[in-house]
Amino acid sequence: MQVGIDKIGFFTSNYFLDMVDLANARGEDPDKYLIGIGQKKQAVIPPTQDVVTMAANAADKILTDDDKASIDMVIFGTETGVDNSKSAAIYVQSLLGISSSARSFEIKQACYGGTAGVQMAADHIATHPESKVLVLAADIARYGIGTPGEVTQGGGAVAMLLSANPQILILDDQSAFHSENIMDFWRPFYQREAIVDGHYSTNIYIDFFNKTFKDYCEKYQRQLSDFSALIYHLPFTKMGLKALRTVIDDGQHSAKLLKEFDYSKQYNALVGNLYTGSLYLSLLSLLANSVDLQVGDRIGLFSYGSGAQGEFYSGTVSDGMKSSLLAAHMDDLLDDRIRLSVPEYEEMYANGLPMMGGDVTFNFADDSSRFVLFGRKADQLV
Ligand code: HMG
Repeated sequence: MQVGIDKIGFFTSNYFLDMVDLANARGEDPDKYLIGIGQKKQAVIPPTQDVVTMAANAADKILTDDDKASIDMVIFGTETGVDNSKSAAIYVQSLLGISSSARSFEIKQACYGGTAGVQMAADHIATHPESKVLVLAADIARYGIGTPGEVTQGGGAVAMLLSANPQILILDDQSAFHSENIMDFWRPFYQREAIVDGHYSTNIYIDFFNKTFKDYCEKYQRQLSDFSALIYHLPFTKMGLKALRTVIDDGQHSAKLLKEFDYSKQYNALVGNLYTGSLYLSLLSLLANSVDLQVGDRIGLFSYGSGAQGEFYSGTVSDGMKSSLLAAHMDDLLDDRIRLSVPEYEEMYANGLPMMGGDVTFNFADDSSRFVLFGRKADQLV
């Protein structure tokens, strides 16, 4: 039986910050941000959105009533949870009217949480072929005004429906993982911004990619030429490129992998980091933008969560995948966003990470998403 991703949806804020504006405000050469880091725009998350509303908005776009009745598990991967006890999954299950016979829970391992959800969902479907699992991956990346990490902020949510006979990506059930106790990035309860050693973390990420890719190739007798594309968790798009460069050469197949990587980073360069959802935004970007990818082509996916957990796994493109539909979904979201000036972004940032029950005093009439916090659609409050 084939198991994998049957549907995929995305949501992010309708506010963004242009990286040239940010570079100018911070006294940096814009090329450092555009080329050196590889980011063009960054989603700015207003206090009308948190991970629950963003995930509900992402899933709302892809689920039919039949899906909602068939889902028997909702897994929410996040490192920007809204409660230490109650899972974000329960809120989304209720907001979307998903069957109350479902198991709903949240999982955490930094940016790896989305992948943990995908793998758990695939295992569940393998033994319960009639079931569908909703995997949500949503986060808000914050480092602080004027910090080196500021250019790598962002946020958003990816929703994926996993099932038997999937329309988008058939998982190979082939995977290699590696974990170690590493203090490269963490988010203690007493502060809202991440603590990170960015250069150290980048090195660990590349090291984990090399370990898991090698282990995967040895376990399953595969080599670089077996992959039509390699895609990555992308805290900033240059980072995936650095990892890819460690395994390619000057050959023709490597040139193809570089071209596909280019397609896979396009949306990430416009949104920024969304932690758990980042790898899956990259998958969306590849599938929507690649002109060469064919049904049956194998994609390698590298997932990384600081702290640290890495996993390399693979899947093949299903014959139900429609690039144009995925591209239209993304264009709708990304084309009409509102560009904030740097002072406007700073003001929104200062109002903080939206938390349920938080003391938010202003009302963003521009947020016309179906699910909002404290917005004008009072009947949709979480
Ligand atoms: P930095 O120190 O300001 O940047 O911070 P830099 O000096 O290293 O420069 C960056 C690149 O720009 C360099 O290229 C420069 O040469 C280039 P590289 O050598 O790396 O190829 N550059 C220029 N290029 C063109 N024109 C110019 C120019 N000037 C310089 N004029 C850093 C960069 C990423 C460290 C910082 O933004 C940061 O700390 N970010 C936050 C943390 C982060 O994203 N870390 C990534 C790894 S952590 C991770 O993967 C997990 C994570 O997703 C969280 C989780 O798992 O939960 C974050």
